[in-house]
Amino acid sequence: MKTLPTLFENNEAWAQAKEASDPGFFERHAGGQSPKYLWIGCADSRVPPNQLLGLDPGEIFVHRNIANQVHHSDLSMLSVVQYAVEHLKVEHVIVCGHYGCGGVAASVDGQRHGIVDNWIKPIADVAEAHEGELAEMDEAGKLDRLCELNVLAQARNLSRSTVLEDARNRGQKLEIHSWIYGLADGKVKSLQDPLVG
Ligand code: CO
Repeated sequence: MKTLPTLFENNEAWAQAKEASDPGFFERHAGGQSPKYLWIGCADSRVPPNQLLGLDPGEIFVHRNIANQVHHSDLSMLSVVQYAVEHLKVEHVIVCGHYGCGGVAASVDGQRHGIVDNWIKPIADVAEAHEGELAEMDEAGKLDRLCELNVLAQARNLSRSTVLEDARNRGQKLEIHSWIYGLADGKVKSLQDPLVG
């Protein structure tokens, strides 16, 4: 007996509708993938890249973790980035955070949350580096800005990663984008011109 029957029903309906609107879709995709984009985003259930960008399966390679971190020692993230850059040859890497990020808030609230505290420590360093700017703001503004600063810091980390350094040295065409998503309006906004990798 299947557990979670609703999800299986949803899936059946989705697969049938997809095949009906685009015959051969699954057969074509079973042969391989060639996405143009890599997404590094937060694990938050409210920020699903394919849905919010209107992309089909096969169009975006995805890595998600709490608070969209790019740590130089994260083998999972680095493996994803290397595969996307060197094999899939994506042209754009999008680091996307979101306003109201619980991971960002937790990094500076002075409370214990568990293992995740170790994961989000670097965001507290970002807050410290921008202490002056953040001190001028109210609590909500401060958190919004820290969400933005976190994206920019992680995009810089990505740009400095060995995989991206190697890509630059090979002359591979690649842009890194720093984006932030608004939970309250569903809109994505760019935080700066893309870094050219
Ligand atoms: Co988040």
